[in-house]
Amino acid sequence: MKKSNKPVLLSGISPSGNLTIGNYIGALKNWVKMQKEYDCLFVLVDMHAITVRQEPQALRSRCLSFIAQYLACGIDPKKSTLFVQSHVKAHTELTWILGCYTYMGELNRMTQFKDKSKKHPTNINAGLYVYPVLMAADILLYQTDIVPIGDDQRQHLEITRDIAIRFNNLYGKAFKIPEPYFPKIGARIMSLLEPAHKMDKSDNNADNYIALLDEPPTIINKIRAAVTDSGTEIKMSEVKPGISNLIAIYSALSEKSLQEIEEAYIDKNYMTFKKNLGEMIVEKLRPIQDEYQRLMKNKDYIYKILKQGAQEATRRAEETLKRVYEKVGFILP
Ligand code: TRP
Repeated sequence: MKKSNKPVLLSGISPSGNLTIGNYIGALKNWVKMQKEYDCLFVLVDMHAITVRQEPQALRSRCLSFIAQYLACGIDPKKSTLFVQSHVKAHTELTWILGCYTYMGELNRMTQFKDKSKKHPTNINAGLYVYPVLMAADILLYQTDIVPIGDDQRQHLEITRDIAIRFNNLYGKAFKIPEPYFPKIGARIMSLLEPAHKMDKSDNNADNYIALLDEPPTIINKIRAAVTDSGTEIKMSEVKPGISNLIAIYSALSEKSLQEIEEAYIDKNYMTFKKNLGEMIVEKLRPIQDEYQRLMKNKDYIYKILKQGAQEATRRAEETLKRVYEKVGFILP
């Protein structure tokens, strides 16, 4: 049973790399607003994370840090359910069931599996192969209406829908068929040094992104070093991906329109613009960083939020799981 009759929104976050202003602008900032109209579930997918090798201590502290950053950005545990995937056993249980309704031919087509296999050729494990089934379980357990995703997850949502439709056709309605939700185009923040690519929280070169937890001098320096394009104009243009990206960041964080910014900098140079942008990012991140520091000094509070989140998620997930067990013909315990 849901808490309300609002549509259900579920998003999974992988605890890898460092959360960036790209994640903030493209995802987090919107979710904070969407908490009002949607019944939101945010799940930190630690079980997905171990499909590539992790250092246990680092994984544990990164998970805690990600949760604190979510809270610091304004994810409100009174409105939303924030939890860790491994705390809710139904995720792995449903994964097994759904795996029996997923064809190897379908999994063989997943481009993320192919990409990750290339990246980690010595560790092409079965978990990596069934990753999309675990993701389907994350989504289907909560009768989710919408799933905000980036373009790279389109195929995973498609297979989730296919599995759900197949199961429903065999047994009668067990799952809601989820819809993808793509954030606005403007929300796509690009790498600072390679503006043809999306800003990536797992980028090997930290100069390509601004992390939410970067120190002020680091932020100023990274913006100063960001590639700009030939010419001098501060103007959005397809042939000027570097400066366009910086203007987009400025606009998203200041909530000023692109035109307003272009007009304000009409007779200014790149250096002045970058200096102001760097300082503005520092000011925008300051309250988030302060709140993060405060939360990290109070880990008991974070654990309490996670415990409540896991209880609520378990309660809801178990309803779906029970229905599924009945439908496939298990004797209920
Ligand atoms: N696979 C997603 C990614 O790499 C993370 C994820 C796991 C997810 N489970 C999810 C996203 C459920 C949305 C819904 O970004």
